[in-house]
Amino acid sequence: MAVLDVVKKRRSFRSFDDKPIEERKLEQVLEAGRLSPSAMNKQPWTFIVVSDPETKSGLNEAMNQTWNPAILVVGCAHPGEAWVRDDGEEYWKVDVAIAMQSMCLVASDLGLATCWICAFDEDQVKSLLDIPDEVRVVGLMALGYSSMKKGKVTKRKAAGEIFKYNSW
Ligand SMILES: Cc1cc2nc3c(=O)[nH]c(=O)nc-3n(C[C@H](O)[C@H](O)[C@H](O)COP(=O)(O)O)c2cc1C
Repeated sequence: MAVLDVVKKRRSFRSFDDKPIEERKLEQVLEAGRLSPSAMNKQPWTFIVVSDPETKSGLNEAMNQTWNPAILVVGCAHPGEAWVRDDGEEYWKVDVAIAMQSMCLVASDLGLATCWICAFDEDQVKSLLDIPDEVRVVGLMALGYSSMKKGKVTKRKAAGEIFKYNSW
């Protein structure tokens, strides 16, 4: 599928079928994250692929919500390894977000459903998954099949509202 078509097709899914993800598809989704760009190519990330039901249930507690995807991908950043601009601005969240969105798009192209999740208690996630202190959890991604039908992306600001050309 053309990339713009995938961007139009990708939606957030919050309910999932009880169907596993084929190993080959999961590999491709993860590969999209691995190949993603990062500032100065620092790749300051680790992704934890959670399929264990008990661990997912612990994550649900940390999210204070019940998610039922086959997999939850936990996107982690290593701020100490990431590029920092001369003025101190840090880019590790951007790096991890780009990688996770690459995964979302490839998943969508493969017929899988995803949802970004940033509403979670970071300390709870870190303690549940034994994530080291210096590592930050940027976001989670629900990944699986969903028989819910959703149309293409809607409810976006009009181009005229968000693009300016050559100056503000
Ligand atoms: C950074 C980020 C964090 C998000 N966090 C959550 C979340 O915690 N829970 C949730 O249900 N959806 C979450 N979403 C999904 C958005 O609500 C969704 O992308 C938006 O409403 C547009 O809908 P669409 O993805 O179907 O086009 C998040 C999306 C992004 C990009």
